[in-house]
Amino acid sequence: MNVVLAENYGFCFGVKRAIDIATENSGALTLGSLIHNQKEIDRLENDYNVKTIEDIDNLENNSKVLIRTHGIPKNDLAKLKQKNSLIIDATCPFVTKPQQICQEMSTLGYQVIIFGDISHPEIKGVVSYSENENLIVISSAEDLKKQKIQNRVSVIAQTTKKNTDYKKIVNYLMDVANEVRVFNTICDATLYNQQAARKLSKEVDLMIIIGGKNSSNTKQLFDICKASSLSYLIEDEQDLDKDWFLGKSRCGITAGASTPQWIISNVIEKIKLF
Ligand code: F3S
Repeated sequence: MNVVLAENYGFCFGVKRAIDIATENSGALTLGSLIHNQKEIDRLENDYNVKTIEDIDNLENNSKVLIRTHGIPKNDLAKLKQKNSLIIDATCPFVTKPQQICQEMSTLGYQVIIFGDISHPEIKGVVSYSENENLIVISSAEDLKKQKIQNRVSVIAQTTKKNTDYKKIVNYLMDVANEVRVFNTICDATLYNQQAARKLSKEVDLMIIIGGKNSSNTKQLFDICKASSLSYLIEDEQDLDKDWFLGKSRCGITAGASTPQWIISNVIEKIKLF
């Protein structure tokens, strides 16, 4: 099997940075998963004693706490300070930015519209920075059409959203609001991985997308690839099925921003044997 890698794939700047910070802080606790890849989380726990806790109320005072790439809600940050935690901030700077925009625009009285997944930790964090009650989170342009839109709006996207979908939302707002402040908060790393996946998926017989099943940017890559090619989303080489490759000669590979290189290498080695 001929294996071709996308021009851009895998770890982004924010995830690399968070993992470096974690490995320099053995024994730290992370509030929620540091990144969306369970196998890498397990490696950090086994090799560096960096453990994940889910409930801030169970945290002992004076603990060393690592804030994950997706950030945490403002209230949780306040609780950490009350508990006198030693806070090590690994929030990706591209996630800190929409938090600041949300705070600033809501303080200025704009209705903040967030294009994102309301249950995603990044969006929970951004929402918590709103200073007014008018904020809405929408999942699509269709969803937006059902909402009550004010005259002065400010719009932000989850860092991992597709820019083509974001443009549909911005276009609609231009028709219905008098003042629209648009912030392009989609992260370049996501965009480059998406562009490269789109290009490669048109040139191969099938695509393998490697990443955590709960990783938003991995799911976006899968959606993009399956529009042009037979595509499979896997977490690691154990999910591969030999039958997928029957009669195929060229396999494209991409991986989400939280997928470590060691998992990607294991997948490639196994596919080459098919
Ligand atoms: Fe940051 Fe973009 Fe990665 S937001 S965590 S650099 S996908």
